[in-house]
Amino acid sequence: EKGTYPHFMLKEIDEQPFVIRNIIQKYQNEDGTVRLDDNIRQAMSEADRIYIIAAGTSYHAGLVGKQLIERIAERPVEVHIASEFLYNMPLLSENPLFIFISQSGETADLRGVLVEIKEKGYQALTITNVPGSTLSREADFTLHTYAGPEIAVASTKAYTAQMAVLTLLAVDTARARGIELPFDPLQELAIVANAMETLCGQKDQLEQIARDYLLTTPNCFFIGRAADYFVCLEGALKLKEISYIQAEGFAGGELKHGTIALIEDGTPVVAVATQAHVNLSIRGNVKEVAARGANPCIISMEGLDQEGDAFVLPSVHPMLSALATVIPLQLISYYAALHRGCDVDKPRNLAKSVTVE
Ligand code: F6R
Repeated sequence: EKGTYPHFMLKEIDEQPFVIRNIIQKYQNEDGTVRLDDNIRQAMSEADRIYIIAAGTSYHAGLVGKQLIERIAERPVEVHIASEFLYNMPLLSENPLFIFISQSGETADLRGVLVEIKEKGYQALTITNVPGSTLSREADFTLHTYAGPEIAVASTKAYTAQMAVLTLLAVDTARARGIELPFDPLQELAIVANAMETLCGQKDQLEQIARDYLLTTPNCFFIGRAADYFVCLEGALKLKEISYIQAEGFAGGELKHGTIALIEDGTPVVAVATQAHVNLSIRGNVKEVAARGANPCIISMEGLDQEGDAFVLPSVHPMLSALATVIPLQLISYYAALHRGCDVDKPRNLAKSVTVE
């Protein structure tokens, strides 16, 4: 039920702070530490390499998950698009663990990989919002994202829930391996949940950004560096699937290797700048596109913001920034689609779960 909300997507965006708090609760021990399944912990710490397999938005969560697992748990991780994995299969390590990330747990492209790797005798963990789903039943282990049913075709709360669970998975693996944590995970996730709540309260401002930049444009670019690059891929996917604006997410430094040719007078370029170590360089990229006529829209974070930024996020831990940054991008996409007269919850040509290969 969408209650007083005009669309499921808007309701599901608003639910994100509660989803994160719910995940904190579900995976918290009485002593305030993270608790996952012992078997998952063992599989994670014994694997010599982790292969994340996913599609679409879940793939974008996987990219963030790779960074979290590598940095927090010091395990090497590869992320692969499910539909390509079997054809462009990498040379596998000796003792791999596969992680399937899927909101629905029914995506056929993932199932194809799961069947194949089970045949080879490898172990699989499914991170899903639907524990009874095919991918959950057929894997050795399941982690539940506890986001509640996601009805809108465009995935929102499942994405942030997946990243929160991946954070806890990384943390639990680090603990098992005796590695010191870079932050207090439950405390930092609680800060993220509060930031999400603040962001969900800034809809008027984000609606205005959608009006100012996206009402009539045929295209839009999202640029970011480091962790911001991954969220740019997700921001672009969200915008294209519901507003039909041709949108592309790019690494800030890669744009000049060809794609900058597409920048024309007035082309909107959303730049995400939440990472201190690349703040100068992403702003340099903004100047490059602005010099060619682009209409830049900078989304930054408190402490890194500069005069003229279109939107400033409350500060969260830089390793968890995608969980907060995606919210303004989701809301901008929502309002762009709404004001362009699109069917927000049921975009053309799309189905909620893709059960054909
Ligand atoms: C984007 C979207 C799709 C799904 C993709 C994977 O908003 O909904 O890109 O993320 O089809 O679906 P799941 O996670 O169910 O495997």
